[in-house]
Amino acid sequence: MSMSYYTLGNSGLRVSRQALGTMTFGTEWGWGADRDTARAIFDAYIEAGGNFFDTADLYTGGTSETWLGEFVAERGLRDKAVIATKFTFNSDPGNPNAGGNGRKNIMRAVDASLKRLGTDYIDLYLLHVWDRITPAEEVLRTLDDLVRAGKVRHVGLSDVPAWYASRAQAVAELRGYEPVSALQLEYSLAERTIEHEYVPFATHHGAGIMVWSPLASGLLSGKYRPTQDGNAGRLDGFRNTTHPGFQKFNDHNWAIVAELEKVAAELGRSMAQVALNWVATQPGIASVILGATKLAQLQDNLGALDFSLSAELRERLEKVSASPAPFPHSYFGSDIQVRVTGGAVTGDKPSGYSPPVMIEGKAVSISSN
Ligand SMILES: NC(=O)c1ccc[n+]([C@@H]2O[C@H](COP(=O)([O-])OP(=O)(O)OC[C@H]3O[C@@H](n4cnc5c(N)ncnc54)[C@H](OP(=O)(O)O)[C@@H]3O)[C@@H](O)[C@H]2O)c1
Repeated sequence: MSMSYYTLGNSGLRVSRQALGTMTFGTEWGWGADRDTARAIFDAYIEAGGNFFDTADLYTGGTSETWLGEFVAERGLRDKAVIATKFTFNSDPGNPNAGGNGRKNIMRAVDASLKRLGTDYIDLYLLHVWDRITPAEEVLRTLDDLVRAGKVRHVGLSDVPAWYASRAQAVAELRGYEPVSALQLEYSLAERTIEHEYVPFATHHGAGIMVWSPLASGLLSGKYRPTQDGNAGRLDGFRNTTHPGFQKFNDHNWAIVAELEKVAAELGRSMAQVALNWVATQPGIASVILGATKLAQLQDNLGALDFSLSAELRERLEKVSASPAPFPHSYFGSDIQVRVTGGAVTGDKPSGYSPPVMIEGKAVSISSN
């Protein structure tokens, strides 16, 4: 396998197209890896040429950050490693300011993360989840202060509404704050909602998308089956969950798994590799965050960019995984465009004017130039 690099959004930060997720570093949540396994996964990722690590302050109660910091330090890799971590979740139940996205919590959280990671700066610091309260102005100003203080190099947003991300980027641009270089979002063949709002925003406004749960928590590896009640991995523990991130067993997803299995067999590749290849080569994707609980899983996943998906196979995967476009995206189709242009055939602008955006599931070229 060969690791290639993209610059993250409009920044000059070079990140490997496959990042290493460390949410599974630690056994506290019941579906992670012990220290020796986590270390082996870390080492294999480094040997493969990866440089981009994703963690968060409260993953596995802080173990994820602690082990990541130790592994990086033990191999003397701090200059090479690009470390992304996040704030938002509450570290002190009963104290509302020990969580959320307000200035007081960000200032507390950054110092706690730096301590656990054993470093004096974070390469990419992300808001983890929208708290529905804190204005984008307060978040971006605080993150900019951290950049100026040397504690943070670049900033990003995870799991926020698209309008909030857009507002945040506009505030950063107009006020001269550090811009949003990354959006971290769930994206896979089983969860394609981001194509309507986030991908056009990210490609037009300089935020590289970091994909989380690219295998839909392991579903797209093909090891779960509709009739099987077993012990295959993480999702078995969430069969009766109300947590939206883990509700993966439904007819739509089983149809995707069935088609993915056929495509993978035709390519002679694992289902996980094909699912990861598809998502990594979609518009706007800067890096796909790999998750693993076993070394063999990571080794499989690291081979996902060693082959190409033909247009025909890609179309089959996209057909089975498509969902109806929500309003107003359902409204922008060709019927309406005829009424916009008065029937004249205008065509797209020449290529190179702007990155592609998705309309009705197809990449089209529009331009703000
Ligand atoms: N910003 C956010 O809100 C957010 C949310 C979630 C995750 N993340 C980040 O994204 C990273 C990846 O997310 P994820 O862990 O949900 O990714 P994922 O790729 O959807 O799921 C990874 C899990 O699938 C199973 N798996 C992986 N490769 C496999 C293979 N080749 N064959 C069979 N099973 C395989 C493993 O679980 P089992 O062994 O248990 O089956 C593994 O832990 C996380 O580590 C974290 O850094 C961010």
